[in-house]
Amino acid sequence: MKRVKKIIAFVLCACMFCGLLSGCSSVGDGKRIIRISHAQSETHPEHIGLLKFKEYIEENLGDKYEVQIYPNELLGSAQKAIELTQTGAIDFVVAGTANLETFADIYEVFSMPYLFTSEEAYHATMMDTDYMEQIYQSTDEAGFRVLTWYNAGTRSFYATKPINTPEDLKGLKMRVQQSPASIKMANAFGAAASPMSFGEVYTAIQQGVIDGAENNELALTNNKHGEVAKYYSYNRHQMVPDMLIGNLKFLNSLSDEEFQIFKEAAELSTEVEMEEWDKQVEEAKEIAENDMGVTFIDVDVQVFKDAVSNVQQEMLDDNPNIQDIYDHIQEINAQYEEEGD
Ligand code: GCU
Repeated sequence: MKRVKKIIAFVLCACMFCGLLSGCSSVGDGKRIIRISHAQSETHPEHIGLLKFKEYIEENLGDKYEVQIYPNELLGSAQKAIELTQTGAIDFVVAGTANLETFADIYEVFSMPYLFTSEEAYHATMMDTDYMEQIYQSTDEAGFRVLTWYNAGTRSFYATKPINTPEDLKGLKMRVQQSPASIKMANAFGAAASPMSFGEVYTAIQQGVIDGAENNELALTNNKHGEVAKYYSYNRHQMVPDMLIGNLKFLNSLSDEEFQIFKEAAELSTEVEMEEWDKQVEEAKEIAENDMGVTFIDVDVQVFKDAVSNVQQEMLDDNPNIQDIYDHIQEINAQYEEEGD
């Protein structure tokens, strides 16, 4: 399967490369092709959100643009696809903020364990587009900019063995995203952090290279990790958003009216993705439990929080750039905690 994927990726890249060399990123009818890469399957909420993006662009600017979506890391892992977006070989990619840390270290904030104290606070932070816009501009120098965010739920540990307390993580090799902050976090939990790309996780668990990973529930079903890791522990350590990232040159080449349409398309895609997310997470739990035989463990979250209680301060000390957004999120957390009282 991996081999087939590699061959497809090679052929696609070769075609794209030839197209770019001959200056024809356009189809026969002269339309400009817009290519979007993402790491999920075609039933994932992000793919469904992107279909809305495509529909809206083509409805409004269809005489000029055709949008093509490449799922399943077909154009490469998130990091590769970000590089392709940087150079303009493709126009957009969906990737988690963990992958952006090496381009703009402000994104480290989202890898902090227990940053958001509720889902409401997480959503409110991300939906505040005026505030987020300044964060989105932080990668301008790298040649790309975030257009919108997608909900990627809450991350927890899952493994081939049950994890009830942080003690159980000791000595376990756990895959984390390829981000300095995620590595720090997993090590602080006592696990041996093993960074690798998302597409490699299934085989690594299957072959015993790692004992488990951490992610939202859809990783169990949509990415089939529930076939190889049968214990999912609800320790809820992170809410890490995914981002729709666009090549900056391309975005700047759009007229004001066109840019507005792209912005609206992006916002609509987020609405669709979020609705679909809530539906699919419920379904994923059922499928994982009933069809895949995954056991969901309700752990004492406080014990996990205590195990990494120094990490937030350490990260703030290491990277002063995240202080402002951290404080901003704490205010939003407080608002929702008051409402919850
Ligand atoms: C989630 C998230 C992806 C991310 C992946 C990972 O699936 O939506 O953007 O790449 O986790 O853990 O790598």
